[in-house]
Amino acid sequence: MVNISSTRRSPDCKVRFTWPCLIILLRFLAIGLALAAYVLFDNLRASTAQRDVIPSIEDEASGSSAAGRPSSSSQWHDYKSFPGLAKKAIEVACGGHMAASCDQCPQGNGASWCNGDCEWRGDACVRSSKLNHVHPDYFRIVQRYAFQPVINNNGEYVNVILVRSPFHDADDNDLYEFYKDDILFMGISSFESFPLNSPNPYSHSNKNEEEIYLNFPGFLHMMRDPDEHFPRHVKRILMSQSDFNLDVPERFGREHAYDEKIYDFVYSGGDQDVESDCVGWASYNKNFSFVREALEVMCSPEFNVTGVLVANKNKADTKACTIPDICHGKILQTTFLGQDEFFGYIAKARWVFLPQVCDASPRVSTQGLAMNKPLLMNRNIMGGWKYLIPGQTGEFFHDMSDFRDSLRRILDNTRGDKSPYKPLDLVKSNYGNEHSGKRLYDFVKEHWGDKIIFPVGTNALIPTGV
Ligand SMILES: *[C@@H]1O[C@H](CO)[C@@H](O)[C@H](O)[C@H]1NC(C)=O
Ligand SMILES: *[C@@H]1O[C@H](CO)[C@@H](O)[C@H](O)[C@H]1NC(C)=O
Repeated sequence: MVNISSTRRSPDCKVRFTWPCLIILLRFLAIGLALAAYVLFDNLRASTAQRDVIPSIEDEASGSSAAGRPSSSSQWHDYKSFPGLAKKAIEVACGGHMAASCDQCPQGNGASWCNGDCEWRGDACVRSSKLNHVHPDYFRIVQRYAFQPVINNNGEYVNVILVRSPFHDADDNDLYEFYKDDILFMGISSFESFPLNSPNPYSHSNKNEEEIYLNFPGFLHMMRDPDEHFPRHVKRILMSQSDFNLDVPERFGREHAYDEKIYDFVYSGGDQDVESDCVGWASYNKNFSFVREALEVMCSPEFNVTGVLVANKNKADTKACTIPDICHGKILQTTFLGQDEFFGYIAKARWVFLPQVCDASPRVSTQGLAMNKPLLMNRNIMGGWKYLIPGQTGEFFHDMSDFRDSLRRILDNTRGDKSPYKPLDLVKSNYGNEHSGKRLYDFVKEHWGDKIIFPVGTNALIPTGV
């Protein structure tokens, strides 16, 4: 209870010790006492029961970890920052604008200018209590591309960071080593074939780091054969980025369920290498060379397929990748699209085409399923194979040898009024933030429940963004 001013990160009070500040401090003391009593009581009550959600302990109660539980502030009391973290002034989001720190948010406008990472307490704009459960350097770390933050079901950050791609900055590995005892780092399949070396010849990923990634304490992966890659000590769960954040496509699909279907399929090229006629990093990842072969079959009179190749034209809309002549008039090539436009095409199509192999977390697959569209998917795909139940959520093909058969099946099943596929059912009963978030929370709680303090009310963990 004594070192309030040093653990409370309220710059206002540190800089100018004013009367309002003193009053706030007294209030904190009172809250702290109340919390300490609560924590003690709760600990007695919970001492026999299994510990699951650890109550949020406000910074004010920092002395009270005598109860046997680390409080968020005592845990990071004497923390040191990694030397490689940018020295520039830390910016906080005030909700609508940024400032160097929370006390700089209001600029004379009071509580209404104090949101985002900050909150109005007493008479001051201070670091939001929603951030009490993360290491003080958490937000400086997740500014780096490879590191992805995790929130709970209430949008509060938790002290878990997902490594979603090979290390990007030269000292990312040192940073990981520096913080790994204070923050739970786990890998997540998302980028290329991460954690495995990318077979993509255009990839810039460092091929010497696979060992490091495969030895993270935990991994959310998409492998068929995880035992062949991960050492036994690594805790794993079959889960990836594409399991989450499906509300938007699901809503879009519902709102556009009765749009006229004018295309058989949509293929998402990511951001194709149009200038080099779709040969390059993105085109390799989305297997465009196979698409060209497949189009010869698809556009033939036997199948007479119509479809959309997204991101198959340059941004200036002046150049498209070459496709077989017989496809002209049947296949639409678009520029890179924003999300709503992209969903708009899927809504007007009968199925989604996923010919790619080198893709550990094909977001488009679950977006399509959430919009109730079946998939025609390459069976060799690294991740996302788990979404495909033939006859139920789409069809697999292996290569050119069985492509015609699979294509025939999905065309016949989707061109009529009645479709046997139930893609949305799979998503609703297994994926999305509710299901996947709960599974991830249970996974973290089971293996690191003694290490992570979850905010009160946590029942799901969700990787933010895409
Ligand atoms: C192919 O489809 C177009 C409409 O997309 C139709 O006009 C044409 O008759 C079809 N051709 C064959 C051979 O079925
Ligand atoms: C594209 O798919 C074919 C058929 O499955 C496969 O043989 C080929 O290796 C794939 N190429 C790439 C670059 O993914």
